[in-house]
Amino acid sequence: KSYRVAILGATGAVGTELIDLLATRNFPLESLKLLASPRSAGRTLSFRGETLPVEPVAEGCFNQVDVVLASAGGSTSKTWAPKAVAAGAVVIDNSSAFRMVPEVPLVVPEVNPEAAATHQGIIANPNCTTILMTVAVWPLHQVQPVERLIAATYQSASGAGARAMEEVKIQAQQILNGQDPKPELFPYPLAFNLFPHNSPLNDQGYCQEEMKMVNETRKIFSAHDLRVSATCVRVPVLRAHSEAINLEFKQPFPVEKAREVLQTAPGVKLVEDWSTNYFPMPMEATGKDEVLVGRIRQDLSHPCGLELWLCGDQIRKGAALNAVQIAELLVEKDWVKPREVALSQ
Ligand code: A2P
Repeated sequence: KSYRVAILGATGAVGTELIDLLATRNFPLESLKLLASPRSAGRTLSFRGETLPVEPVAEGCFNQVDVVLASAGGSTSKTWAPKAVAAGAVVIDNSSAFRMVPEVPLVVPEVNPEAAATHQGIIANPNCTTILMTVAVWPLHQVQPVERLIAATYQSASGAGARAMEEVKIQAQQILNGQDPKPELFPYPLAFNLFPHNSPLNDQGYCQEEMKMVNETRKIFSAHDLRVSATCVRVPVLRAHSEAINLEFKQPFPVEKAREVLQTAPGVKLVEDWSTNYFPMPMEATGKDEVLVGRIRQDLSHPCGLELWLCGDQIRKGAALNAVQIAELLVEKDWVKPREVALSQ
């Protein structure tokens, strides 16, 4: 059995990675359709040596499509995902549009694959920092439930898209040329700088990105009382996020046990050489599928606390790879069609 796939947002940072992943992984692909905005009409992209046209998303374009991988922003998903579902496709949506809708599964395949079984046409791909964090924390949470999680993030420009990555490079050039860096997409200069994440703030002083980490982690873990607090910061790194994570358990969690668990955890690569201070770095996480984890140590300030550090490719596991893994999961389990549709056929 093979599947007809469409990528919505094919020209973007995540879309480009989706094309690359479909070209190199074993997904049973019958056909691939590339969709973007009318701005991209006339463009072509190459896939496995073939030249494919980029088509503007339009009414009827999801007929004859089984799986849509959408990464074109929340408002585009809100408009087009229901139309794709009505046309019979399953949509794996990378935007935040549907993540907190109760009927929409929010899936990290290493963590809660079974949640995908109940989809009704849309499956949400979580926020990138949340995906990376849950891959590393879930295996520990299985040994002993996490009571409280505190995260500080160091987030790359890619989270704001391909143009944002260009903006940092241009600003770096401007600064090296002695010019003032010009912010366009970002509110402030990012090259040689950093700033707290610029998503909208709530009344409690948390930004939207931080609240995604709180709410999405609870949903993915099915741990609705889990205490989570995050500080999200944008840093001048191109495409891998880093995170400092503090975990608090009920009982002490021996560092050796944590190391042993993470050594074999799916999607995790332990990166630690204490003799040379060699630990995960965004440059080394770039292009990798695994979340790199290291600096696992007992929290000096709390007997039941554990500290760890991680880096992961934001475009890959933080977005495109997770979406493709969800598609692979649906195929493997025969969950592409919603259960009631599958039963009625
Ligand atoms: P386009 O290149 O035609 O603007 P990124 O996250 O890297 O900024 O990429 C966003 C992706 O979403 C691009 O492929 C972009 O296409 C696509 N996109 C943005 N707005 C729309 C829209 N209104 N309809 C369809 N695709 C869109």
